Amino acid sequence: MGVYSRIAGTGSALPEKVLSNHDLEKLVDTSDEWIATRTGIRQRHVAAEGETTCDLAERAALAAMEAAGVQASGLDMIVLGTTTPDIIFPSTACLLQHRLGANGCAAFDVNAACSGFIYALSVADAFIRAGTARTVLVVGAETLTRMLDWSDRSTCVLFGDGAGAVVLKADTEAGVLSTHLHADGGKKELLYNPVGVSVGFKPGEENAGVRVLMTGNEVFKHAVKALDAVVDETLAANGLDKSAIDWLIPHQANLRIIEATAKRLQMSMDRVIVTVDRHGNTSAGSVPLALDEAVRSGRVQRGQLLLLEAFGGGFTWGSALIRY
Ligand code: ACO
Repeated sequence: MGVYSRIAGTGSALPEKVLSNHDLEKLVDTSDEWIATRTGIRQRHVAAEGETTCDLAERAALAAMEAAGVQASGLDMIVLGTTTPDIIFPSTACLLQHRLGANGCAAFDVNAACSGFIYALSVADAFIRAGTARTVLVVGAETLTRMLDWSDRSTCVLFGDGAGAVVLKADTEAGVLSTHLHADGGKKELLYNPVGVSVGFKPGEENAGVRVLMTGNEVFKHAVKALDAVVDETLAANGLDKSAIDWLIPHQANLRIIEATAKRLQMSMDRVIVTVDRHGNTSAGSVPLALDEAVRSGRVQRGQLLLLEAFGGGFTWGSALIRY
């Protein structure tokens, strides 16, 4: 009999501090009206001084483990999607492993920007299907506000901090039905952070500031096209019609991108999980945050079919079809 991975529990965490669009009006030349109309965002959570990606990941992980009834000693592996690690190394997954007391299990980060959770989930699913791991903690966690230029209105209004997690367990019944991953490194300049180790930090030079650079309207067009293609690919791979999907749980970057994907799937917005209004874009945190909110609010029920998707820097994009 085949081995599959199933979601045994979900969890999430948000920093306490909330920054509203009105708060941002005091920082840059913008308006609540512009941000809400163009993006659907009304507020975002921002990590407190000293609060790190691992802090958020730990809270999300503990909630997911409690929901799954899994102890730290029961974890075979931790896969953590992030593009804002606490430090360059060790990986945030290793820091998290020690915090949880799961020392000894495999632990590593996956850097796929906003698609980080979908990539991490896909890796975990593959290890479980291969029979190499039976219980895997999958996390998407970010403190993206740490690398924003707070004087750049075209980026600073978009992002927030947060984390989400799931515990995947081996099962004879299929949970994760398929995952689909893509990347196009040729579009790097449209969305990136130029600061790094190997290119040198160049203190004092123009590119020394750690910040997100984005050509928003170009990213928007690529995102809609890539997401349309990947949802079509997911349905075709599973021989399913659009109408089979119970919930769309999309990456939360922009409400207009989410609406475009829902339209492609002929889904009404009451079958789409939306958190972008309250969370902004939490990058790798956004999909598992939305999933956890949907589960805990009772909207997503066992047995339902969920389509998760994301698009982000790289470019990277992907999807996961899950029988919850
Ligand atoms: N407040 C007021 N005006 C603004 C702001 C702001 N915060 N930001 C930009 N503007 C202005 C621009 O300067 C421009 O003015 P101009 O016409 O005088 O030049 C005008 O608004 C329109 O700008 P556009 O960029 O064309 O606006 P658009 O409708 O495309 O919305 C947005 C911009 C929200 C960034 C959108 O393009 C978007 O969401 N893009 C995709 C982002 C995304 O999905 N990223 C991927 C994930 S991120 C990751 O992986 C880390």
